[in-house]
Amino acid sequence: MNKILKKLPLFLTAAFVLITISNKAYTDHHEFEFTPEKPYYVIEDPNAEGSEKQAINKAAYYGYRIFHQNCHVCHGKAARGSSFAPNLVEAFNYAKEGKKTGNGQKYDTVYDWFLDTTVNGYKREMAGGTVNVMPGHGEVVDVMKNIDGIYGYIAAMADGKLTTKDRPGKGWKLK
Ligand code: HEC
Repeated sequence: MNKILKKLPLFLTAAFVLITISNKAYTDHHEFEFTPEKPYYVIEDPNAEGSEKQAINKAAYYGYRIFHQNCHVCHGKAARGSSFAPNLVEAFNYAKEGKKTGNGQKYDTVYDWFLDTTVNGYKREMAGGTVNVMPGHGEVVDVMKNIDGIYGYIAAMADGKLTTKDRPGKGWKLK
């Protein structure tokens, strides 16, 4: 009995910490607003199945879907690249480190890089005269409407917070 009582303060502290953390996640997800610095959230949903256990904010969820429809064909599943176009999760982290990106430019922020290349696209002269083209998507309404969501979706993967390559869960629907 005494032993258990001795451990009580430890137990209470642990419980308090847990409650504080989960309250924070709750507040984060109900008061979330996109900024380039905090472009997504990911929360674990233990009640969901498979890939949906990782639930994300609404805009990033639609970002996933719009990516699938417009970018997947070249950039591969979950932006991990194909023989034709680069892995955008890696490219994101290069841009974040301030390295030169695919079009040979340096940008002040990752968000600037992402907007410029996605909206305007770019061409690249290759040794054999081949030109690899990232088509500009400035006229593609679905992409422009969801550009912050696509950014959030890729950022979540680049930060290692969203690890599934399949459809994530709907974080905003969680109670
Ligand atoms: C027709 C194929 C194609 C489609 C569709 C496409 N891309 Fe690209 N994208 C490319 C290619 C090819 C490159 C690399 C060009 C190069 O550097 O040689 C690229 C480069 C990029 C880069 C820059 C990578 C870097 O290293 O700096 C970003 C960001 C990007 N694409 C985002 C997108 C997004 C977001 C979409 C969907 C809205 C999309 N792309 C759709 C072919 C495509």
